[in-house]
Amino acid sequence: MLRCASLTKTYLSGGRRLTVLKDITFQVEPGAFVAIVGPSGSGKTTLLGLLAGLDRPSAGTVHLDGDELGALDEDRRAQLRGEKIGFVFQSFQLIPTLTARENVQVPLELRGDPAAPRATELLARVGLGDRGHHYPAQLSGGEQQRVALARAFSTRPKVLFADEPTGNLDARTGATIIDLMTELNRDLGTTLVLVTHDLDLAGRARRTIRLADGEIAADTGAGSHPEHGVTLSGAKGA
Ligand SMILES: Nc1ncnc2c1ncn2[C@@H]1O[C@H](COP(=O)(O)OP(=O)(O)O)[C@@H](O)[C@H]1O
Ligand SMILES: [Mg+2]
Repeated sequence: MLRCASLTKTYLSGGRRLTVLKDITFQVEPGAFVAIVGPSGSGKTTLLGLLAGLDRPSAGTVHLDGDELGALDEDRRAQLRGEKIGFVFQSFQLIPTLTARENVQVPLELRGDPAAPRATELLARVGLGDRGHHYPAQLSGGEQQRVALARAFSTRPKVLFADEPTGNLDARTGATIIDLMTELNRDLGTTLVLVTHDLDLAGRARRTIRLADGEIAADTGAGSHPEHGVTLSGAKGA
């Protein structure tokens, strides 16, 4: 359902070409829970941005449900993101002038869906049923991230991308966010692709792709798809 082939990203930086992703090829099955790990600067955020259609590759392709993202114009790509993709950021990225409920309603209203009942239901689902009228500044980091999760799931995306979703949270709060993501992955069948350098969090994923210097250094737990890389016997979900 999500597939990238020979994905390469080069930046021009101070007159020099910097290749930050080199020839990345893998695919993700529907309902998968994949962690992308690797040291800082190894290309994780760049890769996620390409997979989510937020950015365009220098070479190579990304296919989501049969559509090649790079072949679409920006409008069509934005439309596809609205229909199929959710995104959660390390820094929550809530709109500060909107309440929790209004933040969750934004993607629904953009689609012309009746937003309010679903936003209320989603906030209850992330344990914030009574906080819908609060502004982001009135919520803790963990609560803000739960609002961001409710927002990301509001349109029932096929794929949820998350970039260091627990990076700004203490270990315990981070664990509740991960529990919630795992639950939504299981209950709604949402495919999860998350970037983390939190090893606990990565351990919850059924598959781990390790980047080093813009290349895939290891790909474990992909189960019945050993062509995607090394499959460790005994790896979770293998
Ligand atoms: N817009 C950009 N212009 C130039 N270099 C960039 C840009 N974005 C990222 N990079 C570089 O690409 C490399 C990978 O960055 P990134 O994908 O953010 O890594 P990670 O998320 O694994 O820390 C880093 O060396 C970073 O400095
Ligand atoms: Mg990053």
